[in-house]
Amino acid sequence: MGIEKRFGVHPSAAAAWMARFGIGNPPGEVHAVRHVELLLHAGEVVGLVGESGCGKSTLGRIAAGIAPPSEGEIRYGGENVLTMDRAGRRAFELGVQMVFQNPFASLNPRIRVGDAIGEAPRVHGIVAKAELDDCVAGLMQRVGLDPSYRHRFPHQFSGGQRQRIVIARALGVRPKVLVCDEAVAALDVSVQAQVLNLFMDLRRDMGLAYLFISHNLAVVERIADRVLIMYLGRIVEAAPARELFIRPAHPYTRALLDEVPSLDGGSRTYVPIKGELPSPMNPPGGCAFHPRCPHAMPVCATESPQPKTVAPGHWSACHLNS
Ligand SMILES: Nc1ncnc2c1ncn2[C@@H]1O[C@H](COP(=O)(O)OP(=O)(O)OP(=O)(O)O)[C@@H](O)[C@H]1O
Ligand code: SF4
Ligand SMILES: [Mg+2]
Repeated sequence: MGIEKRFGVHPSAAAAWMARFGIGNPPGEVHAVRHVELLLHAGEVVGLVGESGCGKSTLGRIAAGIAPPSEGEIRYGGENVLTMDRAGRRAFELGVQMVFQNPFASLNPRIRVGDAIGEAPRVHGIVAKAELDDCVAGLMQRVGLDPSYRHRFPHQFSGGQRQRIVIARALGVRPKVLVCDEAVAALDVSVQAQVLNLFMDLRRDMGLAYLFISHNLAVVERIADRVLIMYLGRIVEAAPARELFIRPAHPYTRALLDEVPSLDGGSRTYVPIKGELPSPMNPPGGCAFHPRCPHAMPVCATESPQPKTVAPGHWSACHLNS
């Protein structure tokens, strides 16, 4: 069984009052993640792509253990994290770390960066007190920061340096997986490239695996081994990165890949697809993409397409792929 996530939506007082008289939408729920099965191998980079609101962050938070799924199991090292003993649970909690888009919001402005980086290794007893200074210096060096800056505060660093501080802090607990949610989106293009290089170096040197959520197709193409395409809570296509960019099988993926160069230095980022994204509270039946799909057939409105393998390691959920 895959992962499901539903959010109850509490209507405003006015909306609830109107709903009593049959005006407006009834109070409902957002089914943000639907039947998702996600396997991340050691040292693998999986890119997760889809339009705003499709459920990427929700899935990322579930994978990182920050939010519980409504249904479904999270397994770490093959074991269900809910039934793990304390040691196993701790290994999962430390082993999967999350890096967010805005490093400024992730750092306490009143805490010196050396203390921020050293806090988790100290609290979790990962290094002895006497070794903490060396540990912090080593982590700062590892991410390309001068350890002599350890006494400075976050505002004294550039955006790219702040993201390096956040990465050093995540590395302090010796993770095996980083869930990166738009982790380079707030950075200038040239700084993005440097931080991506850092991610790739960490993967090479430490065997880190990544779930890499990004709107930027150039970033995903560059960093990911495998790409998952998400639409209204479901994964609709999954393929090795090269294959996906050369031979996308799903009409939604093809629409996403009809990208235009953006104005900020030519990075490839997808444009809004024709038609509005349906409300996740009331998604279309059958294939959820059918109201916007240029290839929609009558069956698409009534039957949900099942995933079909179209090439080794490549599947797509579309009636055209049968
Ligand atoms: N705590 C919450 N309560 C209610 N609804 C939520 C909550 N968190 C997310 N949602 C809804 O779940 C859906 C998926 O949201 P999510 O943030 O995962 O999308 P996303 O793909 O990360 O979007 P973006 O690209 O804009 O970051 C959206 O409809 C969102 O409004
Ligand atoms: S199942 Fe139908 S509507 Fe959905 S992507 Fe395929 S052709 Fe388009
Ligand atoms: Mg998000």
